[in-house]
Amino acid sequence: MTTKKLQLGILASGSGTNLQSIIDACEAGNVDAQVCVVVSDKEDAKALDRARNHNIPAFSFNRKSFESKKDFEAAMLKCLKDHGVELVCLAGYMRIVGKTLLEPYTDNMINIHPALLPAFPGLDGQRQAWEYGAKVAGCTVHYVDDKMDNGPIIGQVAVEVKEDDTVDTLQKRILEQEHKLYPRCIQLIAQGKVKIEGRRVKISSSS
Ligand code: GRF
Repeated sequence: MTTKKLQLGILASGSGTNLQSIIDACEAGNVDAQVCVVVSDKEDAKALDRARNHNIPAFSFNRKSFESKKDFEAAMLKCLKDHGVELVCLAGYMRIVGKTLLEPYTDNMINIHPALLPAFPGLDGQRQAWEYGAKVAGCTVHYVDDKMDNGPIIGQVAVEVKEDDTVDTLQKRILEQEHKLYPRCIQLIAQGKVKIEGRRVKISSSS
C-alpha cells in the first residue's frame, strides 16, 4: 500500500541548508513528505538552486514588483496552492508572514528559529544568546501565528554554549541540530502525531 506523502512548500530567503536537510530526509525516506515547491523573496537565493538541483519547482517573488504586501503574498499563496502545498515550512524566510498568506494555512505553517523560544525571538537568535551570556542555546520548531516567533512549540533541541565559543562556532553547532530537528518535526506531522491544544502541542507516541 502506498500512502500519500505530505506535500511541502518551503519558503526560504537565503542559503537553504535547512531546505537541503528536508529534501535529503524526504529523498532518503526518513520523512513521509515531498517538497513540491520552493518559494523565495530573493531571486538569487541559493535555496532556489538547491531546489532546482533536485528538480523541484522553484520561484522567486520580488516584493518591489507588487503594490502591496497583500498582492505580494497573494501571488505567493497562489503559487503554493497551484502546487498542492499542504504544509508550509519557513526555512530562513526573512519576512514576517502577513494575514494573506497565513490565514489559508492556519495550523499548517511552521518555522524554525535558532534559539530556545520564548528566549531570543527575532533576528540573530544565536548571537542574542551568545551576547546575553546564556549557558544553553538551541533551536525551536513551532507553528506560525500572527506574532513573530510565537506559535505553539513542536520541538526544541538545547545546545551548550561553551566557554570558548564565538558566535560563529555556536551558530554552526545550532545549525547542525536544526538540520536534524526540522525533518523530525515534519515527520511527526506527516505521521499525524501532532495535535495543537491551545499553546500546547501534543505529540502522540503511537507508531
Ligand atoms: C537558520 O539558522 C534558521 O533557523 C534561521 O535562518 C537560518 C537559515 O539558514 N531562521 P538556511 O538558509 O536554512 O541555511
